[in-house]
Amino acid sequence: MSKKFSSYSILAILVIFAMVLSACGSAETAAEVEESAPVESESMEGEALAVGIILPTKDEPRWIQDETRFTEALTAAGYSVEILFSQGDSAKEKANVEALISKGVKVLIICPQDGTAAAAAAEEANKAGVKVISYDRLIRETTAVDYYVTFDSIAVGAQQAQYLVDKATGTGNPLYLYAGAASDNNAFLFFEGAWSVLQPKIADGTFVVKNSSEAIALQDKATLTRDEMSKIIGQVTTNWDFNTAKNLAEANLTATTAADKGEVFILAPNDGTARAIADAFGVDTDVTMYYVTGQDAEKASVQYIIDGKQSMTVWKDVRTLVADAISAAVALLEGNEPVSQGAYDNGAAEIPAIQSAVVTVDKDNVKSALIDSGYYSAEDFTGLE
Ligand code: BGC
Repeated sequence: MSKKFSSYSILAILVIFAMVLSACGSAETAAEVEESAPVESESMEGEALAVGIILPTKDEPRWIQDETRFTEALTAAGYSVEILFSQGDSAKEKANVEALISKGVKVLIICPQDGTAAAAAAEEANKAGVKVISYDRLIRETTAVDYYVTFDSIAVGAQQAQYLVDKATGTGNPLYLYAGAASDNNAFLFFEGAWSVLQPKIADGTFVVKNSSEAIALQDKATLTRDEMSKIIGQVTTNWDFNTAKNLAEANLTATTAADKGEVFILAPNDGTARAIADAFGVDTDVTMYYVTGQDAEKASVQYIIDGKQSMTVWKDVRTLVADAISAAVALLEGNEPVSQGAYDNGAAEIPAIQSAVVTVDKDNVKSALIDSGYYSAEDFTGLE
């Protein structure tokens, strides 16, 4: 066994140990890490690891969660690593990839801003002999992706939809649909999962779609093609942007009448857009009650859930995704195949993948799921029972 091989093995053990420690850690430890200064890895102590990480944007709390958890895991294992942000710009993402290749990284962990646009950057890395791990979002239409670590995104959408179904009684309930960015493969998976649960309940009259003529035209189809989903997403996309979400919700509320409101059901794709959409519905006097979904368990949304302003979120424990990505990186550095459980078709190849489960969180289990588990500290919230 070479020296290099054994040092990576030790790293793997350290990382797994750190994961266990962080999973068992007190709420206070989690809070300390949450509040630590943002990392541009040069500021991190520790031996350099031949891995670079590229995340989509600092402007959404979701990706700050990932940055924090990567830093936490790698610092505990005594390693430094460079984490760069693309700030919603595929050109910047490509420049980040090139910068990390020239610094000599051997594995890149990339969450693409735009799944298809990132193919060129992945191919450049591949040509330079760098392994590519697609993180959370799938890089599409290229064979230059070695591995994919993800949450079960179909389940995210299905759980959001199930929550709305469980709250609805009778027929004719107004349903407003919103989706993520069409450039993000996950937006399709979330929508596919949600549609599989909502469609039968639209077909049987429980729900009536109020803001998408394309969804209405397709409401008798249990399974949609990607093109069909594109048509609906084209009408209800938030582009993962809070302002777009707010403006779209306001436009939808202006275009509908009091008869389309009352008690409403809102499929919002993630927490940031859920808060924006909830704020818009919350000030419409014809809306007497709304149920709105989310995902990511962002702190601001956890507070919204406690305050009764957002109904639920789908919690994706980022610690698991980070641990899976690091294990995969270590395996690739050692020249091994990372452990996989199936594969995702990215339009050009079947990419071996590992997938993590997700958890529905609402007011009833917010404390047990997120606080008692040590994911967040109780002090970060007010009004927690
Ligand atoms: C992620 C979500 C996130 C969204 C917007 C998706 O690809 O899976 O967790 O909320 O992008 O950034």
